[in-house]
Amino acid sequence: MSAIYWMMLVFFLWILHGIRNISHRICSESTTMATPPGSEGFPFIGETLHFMAAINSSKGFYNFVQLRRLRYGSCFRTNIFVETHVFVSSTESAKAILNNDLGKFTKRYIRSIGELVGHHSLLCASRHTHKHIRSKLTNLFSTTSLSMFIKQFDELIVKTLRGWETKGTVIVLDEALKITFKAMCKTLMSLDCEDEELEMLEKDVGCVCEAMLAFPLKFPWTRFYKGLQGRERFMKTLEKIINKRRENPQEIHEDFLQHLLTEDDETRPDDQNPSSLSDEQIKDNILTMIIAGQDTTASAITWMVKYLDENVDVLQKLRKEHLAPAKNAWNHSNLTLDDLNHMSYASKVVKETLRMASIVPWFPRLALEDCEIQGYKIKRGWNVNVDSRSIHHDPTFIAFGAGGRTCLGMNMAKAMMLVFLHRLITTYRWEVIDSDTSVEKWALFARLRSGCPIQVTRVRPNSAAS
Ligand code: HEM
Repeated sequence: MSAIYWMMLVFFLWILHGIRNISHRICSESTTMATPPGSEGFPFIGETLHFMAAINSSKGFYNFVQLRRLRYGSCFRTNIFVETHVFVSSTESAKAILNNDLGKFTKRYIRSIGELVGHHSLLCASRHTHKHIRSKLTNLFSTTSLSMFIKQFDELIVKTLRGWETKGTVIVLDEALKITFKAMCKTLMSLDCEDEELEMLEKDVGCVCEAMLAFPLKFPWTRFYKGLQGRERFMKTLEKIINKRRENPQEIHEDFLQHLLTEDDETRPDDQNPSSLSDEQIKDNILTMIIAGQDTTASAITWMVKYLDENVDVLQKLRKEHLAPAKNAWNHSNLTLDDLNHMSYASKVVKETLRMASIVPWFPRLALEDCEIQGYKIKRGWNVNVDSRSIHHDPTFIAFGAGGRTCLGMNMAKAMMLVFLHRLITTYRWEVIDSDTSVEKWALFARLRSGCPIQVTRVRPNSAAS
């Protein structure tokens, strides 16, 4: 019975797909403008299997885009997860899409990501709600909180690097993931290493991240299901933290969560004030900020260590900037925002790392109306993805996006990379012991599969740059 049911379902979907294709062709023919070149793949599933195969390979999921860009050019069409996706890699078009002056696009992630981060997440919210949530979160990224964050992060890095000396081999990615997770949890919710919640949350966020690109099938053995469970556990822990704070209002917390809750409580006596964020919005966005900030920055730090190992000249110049006697002030006390602003060569290294690694390889948008891109017709409801990795081959720098959706944590991310870089250079020399460049399977952001293992040797105090 169930076999017949499945056959009928597949047949029905196949017919549906055929009708869609025919109507699509008729519509395209009725206008003079062609749709972008590309393949719709197999009936119904399109090129989903090719996409999944790329995710599951050591070349990474960007390989799927790269192959088609080479075959079809800078604007091509495909069908994944039963939806049409267009990939765009011309700088002009990218700027127009990201700036979105005419309101033709909104951001949209594939369904699995939307369900995992939550519908109130800044990443998924509708245009109107996005504006409101973003305005509330932007307040948290002030210069004052950045300065405080740098101090905390520096202390964390100094403590962590101290422990490296006794380790034979250090896996940079593993260490960076731990560091960035702790840093995000500290600044968002004042969680310290001793807090029992920290380890639980780390595991739960790990499950969510691993499920980001999974096929959205909710069976107990699927990656997606496990991701959703991780999300559920994360939300329960966060609820407990919020309830504890509400029960003990006299306790003082200087963190993002407290700012959001206090604003919430003060401005919403009767739950009617539309300017405050609801608990659901706060929770989804705390998870969003951890996901947006942890994995991205940890991957960037790892690529930076690898690139420096491969570019000895750059490393030497960097050592000169950081080990020169005049800069010793940077080495004694906690680093400040002002110190970071003076690290001019290191800032260039950070920027070049972000350009080369293109941590977020494409930025997803949804066309809200029929429009034209590079002379091709784009239909309302199609997904339009800006291929940032390809754009980074020309001087345009969009590692943190552009327009109204520009990365909120951009300065925080750059600060983390600079602090890490400075402390690493001034504490150790290192050698990468596995130069394999394959990337991790299933990762949303490009991460080295090897994790970049290094062996470190302590730099002698006051050693001159050499
Ligand atoms: C090297 C590290 C990072 C990189 C490369 C990066 C990159 C990006 C990019 C490209 C976008 C825009 C995507 C688009 O337009 O579709 C974005 C958005 C975002 N990022 Fe980052 N990011 C990094 C670190 C962080 C950190 C540390 C945070 C801090 C909490 C953060 C929070 C966010 C948020 C909340 C958004 C959504 C903004 C919105 O939609 O309005 N990111 N990030």
